[in-house]
Amino acid sequence: MNSLRLTVNGASVTQAVEPRTSLADLLRENLHLTGTHLGCEQGVCGACTVIVDGVPVRSCISNATGCGGAEVRTIEDFDEDPLMIELRQAFNAHHALQCGFCTPGMLIMARDIVERLGDADEQRIRQELAGNLCRCTGYSGIVKAVRSVIVARQANGVVAPPRSVGLGPAGCGHGAADETTAKPVISPPQPATASSATKAQLATPGKIGASAPSVKQSFVIDHPQDVIWRQFGNVPAMIRCIPGAALVGETEEGNYQVNMRIKMGPIGAQFAGVANQQRDDRTMTGVIHGAGRDERSASLAQGELSYALHEEHGGAATRVDLDVKYALSGALGQFARAGIVTHFIGAITAQFTENLRRSLSPEAGDPEPREASELRLAGSLAIAVKSWLGEIRRKLFSR
Ligand code: FES
Ligand code: FES
Repeated sequence: MNSLRLTVNGASVTQAVEPRTSLADLLRENLHLTGTHLGCEQGVCGACTVIVDGVPVRSCISNATGCGGAEVRTIEDFDEDPLMIELRQAFNAHHALQCGFCTPGMLIMARDIVERLGDADEQRIRQELAGNLCRCTGYSGIVKAVRSVIVARQANGVVAPPRSVGLGPAGCGHGAADETTAKPVISPPQPATASSATKAQLATPGKIGASAPSVKQSFVIDHPQDVIWRQFGNVPAMIRCIPGAALVGETEEGNYQVNMRIKMGPIGAQFAGVANQQRDDRTMTGVIHGAGRDERSASLAQGELSYALHEEHGGAATRVDLDVKYALSGALGQFARAGIVTHFIGAITAQFTENLRRSLSPEAGDPEPREASELRLAGSLAIAVKSWLGEIRRKLFSR
């Protein structure tokens, strides 16, 4: 738990939060500010929009601990706000709401548009509201309502005061602008040591919970089953085939110490951990257990790779069936979503297969595959994100 201090709707708030607590959960669950709605919880629908340090922010994907020292304003704080009163009246007049689920996020965003762009036309309003989804109204009334407020304010000569926004991501503490404002951010960072439970998991990585998500992959390699079986039994050689992985040493218990570097778009992590393997010669199946910790993000990754070899093409080739189970906790836990992990494992498998082929290829001359120092998944991630967006939109609009 981290002790977090921030300002919410003008009041100084101190809360103990988990590293993974989102700002939305802090507001709704801890502070009971339920005017902030949760729709997709993936940063797509905009229902959870709040103001952090003067900027609209999706609270479902904002870490609460990242908002230490920030000034947060939720829809409840705008009850008496003159601009919000105008917007509420305009939403009523233009029938801009039906179920009202999207409305708090819409109003917060609409207020930001009016304040920031005092002369936005209909096209600009539509652009600016593109990140706020409404499943009921078709947007026409919402856009008309926002535009009517802009026109009315222009007619009355109301000019919004210029806003100054600090550099850096919203919620990084710019709210504490003067010395009298609550300054403390987060309690001092915990020493980067693993908890005893984590240490135990890292010392002897074992079976992952039965409920852990799993991804299945298969590939065929043009070598007989016994050749592939021998190669899978050579753990150091296998680790060299895994992109981003490097063998560091062996523990007294016979576990392998492994480092794994991963880069997903702008996010980089280096997991240090251990792995071991159990095999059954009779069925040509095996299981590799691994657990690692990224100290910088205090994230723990656990994995279980089960493999089974089958003859293909009359024994000339081997089909390898993989079943990967995984668990990711800590700050990087957000990447444990099925869409990302499926693409992640797909990318690793493709590179692993290529490296395995190289390691078995006599004409390559070099029996050791080139070790990938870093696994880059930006492209794969982009595909995953795109597919979620489509899925979420489909869900939202099919209701
Ligand atoms: S709930 Fe946060 S964007 Fe949808
Ligand atoms: S009014 Fe129902 S989702 Fe917008």
